[in-house]
Amino acid sequence: MNDLPHKPVLYKEIIHALQPHAGGRYVDGTVGAGGHARGILEACAPDGRLLGLDVDPQALAIARETLAPYEHRIHLAQASYTTLSMQLKNLGWDSVDGILLDLGASSMQFDTVERGFSFQHDAPLDMRFGPHIPQTAADIVNSYSERELADLIYEYGEERDSRKIARAIVKARPLHTTRELVAVIESVSARSFGRLRTARGDRVHPATRTFQALRIAVNDELASVTEMLPQAAASLKVGGRIAVIAFHSLEDRIVKDFFREQSRDLVNPPYERIYAEERKATLKEVNRKPITPSGEEIKNNPRARSAKLRVAEKL
Ligand SMILES: C[S@@+](CC[C@H](N)C(=O)[O-])C[C@H]1O[C@@H](n2cnc3c(N)ncnc32)[C@H](O)[C@@H]1O
Repeated sequence: MNDLPHKPVLYKEIIHALQPHAGGRYVDGTVGAGGHARGILEACAPDGRLLGLDVDPQALAIARETLAPYEHRIHLAQASYTTLSMQLKNLGWDSVDGILLDLGASSMQFDTVERGFSFQHDAPLDMRFGPHIPQTAADIVNSYSERELADLIYEYGEERDSRKIARAIVKARPLHTTRELVAVIESVSARSFGRLRTARGDRVHPATRTFQALRIAVNDELASVTEMLPQAAASLKVGGRIAVIAFHSLEDRIVKDFFREQSRDLVNPPYERIYAEERKATLKEVNRKPITPSGEEIKNNPRARSAKLRVAEKL
């Protein structure tokens, strides 16, 4: 995997979870550099097929190269995973054996300075995963009210200094570059540098959480996952599996709640006179607790540290 610009997270666990087999049909909704997709294609040789989606044309160009040896078994499309049902219809696939979603941003996106995902370099405040996204981080920073900014930074960034940061942004704007935004954040929370730590004790730059919050808002990431999951569940064959890697607690909660909800029969109690829709469970959770990367994986790939994998099987 060291040949790829993005190291696939929880790689072995994903292959184990999806159990790809010959003749199967698989979807990688976030194909990125194609690391997971390559593993799936290897495992479903000689005739399994894969549909790979990504909204980022740069990612798709890399995936096309990575997956060139399998070109007769792949379909790649620049499209959001929220259009899954339509993409499957276009291909004439009624149902699939496995679906992968590996959420968040790729290493290529963080490392391509001019895309504005990283607070460590100076670039325009962009942060869009794909060119179709209507607003950039600069649009949000320069147009939201102080209250809206504070709520966004608090909710998506889990940033305790959200109000201070929002006030400082409003005072300093217009802001156009990552460096300008970092300077504003540092002016109000530089003292917290060194105090902020991850669960593992690593220091966190005070801009980390605000940048994460803006990225989630720009790309409407939580709404996209919410929109995708029912389509995925409806597209799976009986016994087919969906595997989702989340890097943010709110995202993981959406996946957890959806899997739990779909794993329960909805039955009206016999004495109830008002009937809600009755529904049989459609999914079974494969693991009750999320699967997380080993210490070894985190050492080799620190970007894996907050990953949580949940897997469900179609009933
Ligand atoms: C963590 S990376 C995936 C890496 C990939 N699993 C690999 O092995 O290289 C997430 C990818 O999802 C893409 N993405 C984000 N939102 C998307 C959406 N709504 N639809 C399709 N792709 C999306 C991003 O552009 C990024 O390339």
